[in-house]
Amino acid sequence: MQRIGILTSGGDASGMNSAIRAVVRKAIYHGIEVVGINRGYSGFIDGDMQSMNLGSVADIIHRGGTILRTARSREFATSEGKTKAYKNAVQAGIQGLIVIGGDGSFRGAADFYEQHQLPVIGVPGTIDNDIFGTDYSIGFDTAVNNVVDAINKIRDTATSHERTFIIEVMGRDCGAIALTAGLAGGAESIIIPEVPFDIKEICAKLMRGVKRGKLHSMIVVAEGAAGGLKVGQDIKTLTGTDTKVTILGHLQRGGSPTVLDRVLAARMGAKAVELLMDGQANKAVGMHCEKIVSYELETVFKNKKELNIDILELAKILSI
Ligand code: F6P
Repeated sequence: MQRIGILTSGGDASGMNSAIRAVVRKAIYHGIEVVGINRGYSGFIDGDMQSMNLGSVADIIHRGGTILRTARSREFATSEGKTKAYKNAVQAGIQGLIVIGGDGSFRGAADFYEQHQLPVIGVPGTIDNDIFGTDYSIGFDTAVNNVVDAINKIRDTATSHERTFIIEVMGRDCGAIALTAGLAGGAESIIIPEVPFDIKEICAKLMRGVKRGKLHSMIVVAEGAAGGLKVGQDIKTLTGTDTKVTILGHLQRGGSPTVLDRVLAARMGAKAVELLMDGQANKAVGMHCEKIVSYELETVFKNKKELNIDILELAKILSI
């Protein structure tokens, strides 16, 4: 393997830059050249790429977002789109490709491999932490810390005004962000798509808190479970409490990556290069029980990552 390509795809996640840095430096260390492909699969189709050197990834380890930028490409889902990208890869002398992104990006990588047999390795980078085969994806820890930071701040104003706050968080169809941040932020209730919820039960708990003198209530809602505005409206109607809704939105995705995300990204990026050097293809990198592992890309689509629902039970007990 003499030259590899790297791209970031789908929603950006903090720590992607740390992964890019790891790929570029690890590859150069082993005498392999690296081509950075801009704007994900869209840039791949357009041939928007440049060669990278040690300096290309200097001073980015602490930055959120992705220096390669990212996109969601409909064209890459077509056979013609993939062929255009493949021609660009051949012209640039790319012999292996590392894709940092979520499950949609992994699907694109697997289909690309099937159509053109260019070796691809997927590195999980998404705040949603919904990729099967890895305990954590790059960006999740930073996002959860962002959410907890916001909960802490909202708690101050919630207490001052004796209000109920509904905090809607991202995660697409997965409740991992809500569950983890809800436990860490001391939420009274956590609403996630994986477990049906009863709004009356949530309201009854809230009112028990009010009766025993609690000055505020925090309810964390995963976007995939319910709209925060609707939950807020229902709670206001059923309890009559002063209820406010905060939709955290894209601020969850930004900011300097946490140590955990930086270390995860460094280890996963380096592993992806090792796999290509080893002649492997169509694989994903993951972390399982602190070890960096690899597995077939296909297994990501054939399995659903299970949330640890015990955490919800624990959060319920601790917020009694
Ligand atoms: O997959 C990451 C994610 O942030 C989801 O949690 C969210 O639903 C989605 O992307 C938002 O996408 P966009 O940035 O395109 O609005």
